[in-house]
Amino acid sequence: MAGILDGKAALVTGGASGIGRATAVAMSREGARVAVADRTEASATETVALINAAGGQAIAIGGDVTKDEDVAAMVARTVAAFGRIDCAFNNAGIAGRAVGPAGQRTHELSRASFDGMLAVNLTGVFMCMKHEIQQMLTQGGGGAIVNTASIAGLVGLPTSAHYVAAKHGVVGLTKTAAMEYAEDGIRVNCVNPGYIETPMTEETMKTRFDAIMAKVPVKRLGKPDEIAEAVVWMCSDKASFMTGASHVIDGGYFAA
Ligand SMILES: NC(=O)c1ccc[n+]([C@@H]2O[C@H](COP(=O)([O-])OP(=O)(O)OC[C@H]3O[C@@H](n4cnc5c(N)ncnc54)[C@H](O)[C@@H]3O)[C@@H](O)[C@H]2O)c1
Repeated sequence: MAGILDGKAALVTGGASGIGRATAVAMSREGARVAVADRTEASATETVALINAAGGQAIAIGGDVTKDEDVAAMVARTVAAFGRIDCAFNNAGIAGRAVGPAGQRTHELSRASFDGMLAVNLTGVFMCMKHEIQQMLTQGGGGAIVNTASIAGLVGLPTSAHYVAAKHGVVGLTKTAAMEYAEDGIRVNCVNPGYIETPMTEETMKTRFDAIMAKVPVKRLGKPDEIAEAVVWMCSDKASFMTGASHVIDGGYFAA
């Protein structure tokens, strides 16, 4: 059966785990050749093995989205392997506890925590977009970019000022690039997940599951696949009129 990404080449950052892994696998199922990028090539290779086992074609790329030369290499290696980039999922990200103690209000956050968060969750996305868009303009024919924001890109969340600032920034980057490149046929959207069951949320859920579920009408965490399916569609030509959008997938969090 034909897949909705048949013939396309995709780059997924943060592809070794959680939402990124599920999306890389789903993109491959829909016919894309997928470059799976993550901090280490070894971890990305595990996702590539899943894709290969299902009969898909993928490569693993090790690289840190906070390093300009690594981002340039991610794009260059994808193009070397597949000839072009049609779809990019800029998804690599960290939670607050990766850069400092959990539970800090704005005045308690250190400059280092704030900078560390923005380096990955905002500047990393910018650098990926910069190199991907340059490639898409050079190759011609347009393209589709999906950035991973969050519900935290649309509302405040106490004790997560740095995460919230970065994700609001991702929404802003997305809207602006959508306007700048619409006439080049490059669509730029973001996905805004609610609380999803991945390694990122594991620690938080040990202590705050009940409090969080009180705000989620479906009363469960989302699964990475439930984000992946939407991202695949947003990357496909079926989403041809969608650009500059924040696509919320949150089990009803915002409806409550
Ligand atoms: N899990 C949730 O509830 C949730 C909700 C909203 C948004 N998000 C966002 O979804 C994205 C994916 O998160 P996840 O839940 O799948 O988490 P995860 O921890 O399972 O996966 C994140 C991946 O990003 C990679 N990564 C982190 N920093 C990197 C860097 N500097 N360079 C390259 N790769 C890097 C990690 O190695 C990891 O493989 C993140 O941007 C996160 O902020 C997650």
